[in-house]
Amino acid sequence: MIKIENLVKEFTIKNEHKKQVKTLAVDNLSLSVQDGEIFGLLGPNGAGKTTTIRMLTMEMEATAGNIEYQGCSIKEHPIDIKKMIGVVPQNINFDNDLTVGENMELHAKLHHMSAADRKRKIAEMLDFVELSQTINLMPRALSGGMKRRLLIARALIHEPKILFMDEPTVALDPQVRRRIWDLIRNLSAQGTTVVLTTHYIEEAEALCNRVAIINKGRLVAIDTPENFCNRMGRFAVEWDGTEGRQYQFFDSRKEAAAFAGELEHGVRIRKTNLEDAFIELTGRREGV
Ligand SMILES: Nc1ncnc2c1ncn2[C@@H]1O[C@H](COP(=O)(O)OP(=O)(O)OP(=O)(O)O)[C@@H](O)[C@H]1O
Ligand SMILES: [Mg+2]
Repeated sequence: MIKIENLVKEFTIKNEHKKQVKTLAVDNLSLSVQDGEIFGLLGPNGAGKTTTIRMLTMEMEATAGNIEYQGCSIKEHPIDIKKMIGVVPQNINFDNDLTVGENMELHAKLHHMSAADRKRKIAEMLDFVELSQTINLMPRALSGGMKRRLLIARALIHEPKILFMDEPTVALDPQVRRRIWDLIRNLSAQGTTVVLTTHYIEEAEALCNRVAIINKGRLVAIDTPENFCNRMGRFAVEWDGTEGRQYQFFDSRKEAAAFAGELEHGVRIRKTNLEDAFIELTGRREGV
């Protein structure tokens, strides 16, 4: 289990008057992730997702609060915990002077793997993401989707029990995105815990056992995608109002149909989805 308690990250930045001011990127965040879960961290731009992941992966120190893996604090056992975790960063960060294979080799060496293990795991992981033929190419020769898959392969070389993925499918075409979903489901089926962030809410809905919605560094809500939808009301009515697209939610299709019957323009009844809950809870709906 990963346990986050009262996590805080404060940055000092220069404001428009060049004065040093403090800003809270993560504000007293507490939550737990169970072993084997696919856990989603959702929130608008600047909500604090990447900062949280950086603290969880020890890339950045917290201003306050505590993080525990299987009951061990990262302050006391950083090296043991680093061995347990893999990271797919938001920004693609290969060494562009090294080939695909050499980038993988570098990562394996940083994890002190033996020459035999390095060779075996690099081949296995490149095969897992279907990039075996690219081993001697430079990273710049790969497409965006191939680079994202390579980031996943690299993060898995040392067989981490927990994988952090910060926007793993950003800017990918629907086919590649679905393939990455399959990779994530395969990892989960093999017992890996996955913590991911995404702006594609349907991705979180399709993959995650539970999601935490954060906004301005704070936890807004945490639940299963299904419970989020049930709490909103399982049926949504959408229509064209004077102020753009309008939405109302109902517990039954009958109530939704009765309401929709009163409306004239562009009415649609559909199932409520996680995006509806996300927008309701983070207070942003395009066109409103
Ligand atoms: N190194 C830094 N120095 C100063 N401020 C930072 C730094 N990193 C992040 N921030 C600020 O912290 C807040 C949270 O940023 P963060 O990158 O964690 O958000 P995010 O939820 O990952 O957003 P996005 O969806 O855009 O990736 C933002 O206001 C950001 O400007
Ligand atoms: Mg981010």
